Amino acid sequence: MNQMKKNFLPVRILAIETSCDETAAAILENGRVLLSSVVASQIEIHQQYGGVFPEVASRQHVRDIYRVVDQALQQAHMSLDNMDAIAATRGPGLAGSLVVGMNMAKGIAIGKQLPLIGVNHLESHIYSAWLYPDETPNPPAPPEFPLLALLVSGGHTELIIMKEHLVYQRLGGTLDDAAGEAFDKVARLFGLSYPGGPSIQNAAQTGNIKAFNFPRARMEGTWDFSFSGVKTSVLRVVQELEKSGRPLPVFDLAASFQESIVDVLFQKTLQAAKEFNVKNIIVAGGVSANQALRDRFLSQHEIPVFIPPLKYCTDNAAMVAAAGYFRFVHGKTDTLDIDVLPTWPISFTL
Ligand code: KG4
Ligand code: ZN
Repeated sequence: MNQMKKNFLPVRILAIETSCDETAAAILENGRVLLSSVVASQIEIHQQYGGVFPEVASRQHVRDIYRVVDQALQQAHMSLDNMDAIAATRGPGLAGSLVVGMNMAKGIAIGKQLPLIGVNHLESHIYSAWLYPDETPNPPAPPEFPLLALLVSGGHTELIIMKEHLVYQRLGGTLDDAAGEAFDKVARLFGLSYPGGPSIQNAAQTGNIKAFNFPRARMEGTWDFSFSGVKTSVLRVVQELEKSGRPLPVFDLAASFQESIVDVLFQKTLQAAKEFNVKNIIVAGGVSANQALRDRFLSQHEIPVFIPPLKYCTDNAAMVAAAGYFRFVHGKTDTLDIDVLPTWPISFTL
């Protein structure tokens, strides 16, 4: 029966994501067709702390998780009986937050005798490039291997080659701050609210990208990134301006800073894509929601680029379901005693 089901019926995955401050659940069919996706954001709660407060985050997940999973089922007009497997983010992320989603997934897996799939959060971001909504008339072609993924989020900035499904070769990554982290920290210097990425993007809209020439760390000879230099440079400029008693030209500062980050991410990624002769580039993770970054990648026509729709750039469970599906069909299910992995490099895929 199970074999028949695999061959003839759609494979449906219920996925849960709680790696940081978003409680999310989604239902996905055959790895790509999204039936529902629900995200309960905690941004308003953490804004008062200027960043994510881990214990507050995990306790809020406890309050929200049941409602979010229930809503995902209702929106898809389904029950747990229609699911074939349950996927949850296993890491990397905040331990206390990961545990909430993983235990919910284990409870469902036990109660409904469903296979459990622990998914790497970074691979989930990459697999967001496979998603499309249920009502899409002509399904877009999926990304082709070999591909290069630029993963840019609040916790990570990595260049990853994929020669096939679930096989990841990490070329390099940030040696200090992640790109999103740099946006968040610099936004604070400008007096803008958390999360910094969207705030800087808004402020940059009317700013001049050439007003300030912030440094670009090219990290020649490596595929690594470094954003601490630009952050320090912004700090110095802000301190000088404040000393002079003049109001901060926030729009120009934001535009110039954003440009320096976009420039480095784009140049380095394109260089790696050419050197490794990839067929496609994927840009994923929260920072891939940045319009200037999207425009820069989409304005080059040498290598086709996949950037997920905005709502699948920041943390969500649809992408966990997509990665979970490919793990499931490759026989990578997990036992009910798996622990969460707050530190889990993508190249050490289990
Ligand atoms: O992927 P994500 O939701 O969580 C992590 O896995 O870290 O990424 C969150 C990060 C935050 O640092 C946020 O400032 C950044 O993504 N971000 C943006 C934009 N939207 C979110 N950065 C630049 N421009 C944006 N529009
Ligand atoms: Zn993320």
